[in-house]
Amino acid sequence: VGHIDDVQELRRTKPKTIPQRFVRNMTERPTLQTPLSPPNSDMPVIDFSKLSKGTKEEILNELYKLATACEEWGFFQVINHEIDLNLMENLEDLSREFFMLPLEEKQKYPMAPGTVQGYGQAFVFSEDQKLDWCNMFALGIEPHYVRNQNLWPKKPARLSETVELYSREIRKLCQNLLKYIAIGLSLEEDVFEKMFDEAVQAIRMNYYPPCSRPDLVLGLSPHSDGSALTVLQQAKGSPVGLQILKNNTWVPLQPIPNALVINIGDTIEVLTNGKYKSVEHRAVANEDKDRLSIVTFYAPSYEIEVGPMDEFVDEKHPCKFRRYNHGEYSKHYVTNKLQGKRALDFAK
Ligand code: SIN
Ligand code: FE2
Repeated sequence: VGHIDDVQELRRTKPKTIPQRFVRNMTERPTLQTPLSPPNSDMPVIDFSKLSKGTKEEILNELYKLATACEEWGFFQVINHEIDLNLMENLEDLSREFFMLPLEEKQKYPMAPGTVQGYGQAFVFSEDQKLDWCNMFALGIEPHYVRNQNLWPKKPARLSETVELYSREIRKLCQNLLKYIAIGLSLEEDVFEKMFDEAVQAIRMNYYPPCSRPDLVLGLSPHSDGSALTVLQQAKGSPVGLQILKNNTWVPLQPIPNALVINIGDTIEVLTNGKYKSVEHRAVANEDKDRLSIVTFYAPSYEIEVGPMDEFVDEKHPCKFRRYNHGEYSKHYVTNKLQGKRALDFAK
């Protein structure tokens, strides 16, 4: 991605028209005019504190809500998640500072072709592919084999250590959520933790500048996540941007202040043989406001074999996916363009 394809640089030049590279074909354009579902339309909200320290009744009630959210939505918002709000805000501020640095500074951490780490646009493989209205900066966190220390930024000064602190907190949250998800599925509570071994964790900051024609572009192409679980933080004051495909309709997600958005990724869909779905989502641009989101991906270790668990396969539920190596899936995911749920074809 050259100078001209950097969305912030492009925005700076105040172009009269949106370059063709960003203009979506008719069928892909976000239909901003036609009413979408009302924001959220009852998207589930899970109170984490009820799971972690509620009464027996509260725990059961919240576990039920969580299970229903995973089965019917694949997406939910978590409140009272016990992540330090100051830490979340610091990371927002520092990430924003990073994106505001001169392009030369950001390009000290270039995203190599066919990888999704560093600064740039991930998932771009051909000249005629449409570009997202978004700049990305991504880092592998854990374990050591996904970490590329050369890409950890020196500016702004405290960004790298803040990413480190934040990631440790989010890792605990993911482990806890997977425990509650397991309990809700009547599985051993540590089944995922044991199975994932040394889980892979990565972080990506998405910066969406305002766009004079949000009706023509997409902030982020439709996709499902290649993770087991994804945690999304939307910066304070961000406009609505994320949309979830539910019953063939794009449902905008209205951020709840301080909440985190969680979604089920492809791994959990495969493990549960489709009982829990990795739901397709996309981001749209906004005419007046920029938007910053911080996404954590939590997935099994690369050497792990993934396939539907016996508990989810029977006469009424024939096996929908093959067994595969997660490292190979991960490679497949990052070397193909984002295209709805196409990545999961790998597992069929
Ligand atoms: C994502 O799907 O990676 C993030 C979408 C968003 O910015 O809300
Ligand atoms: Fe995503």
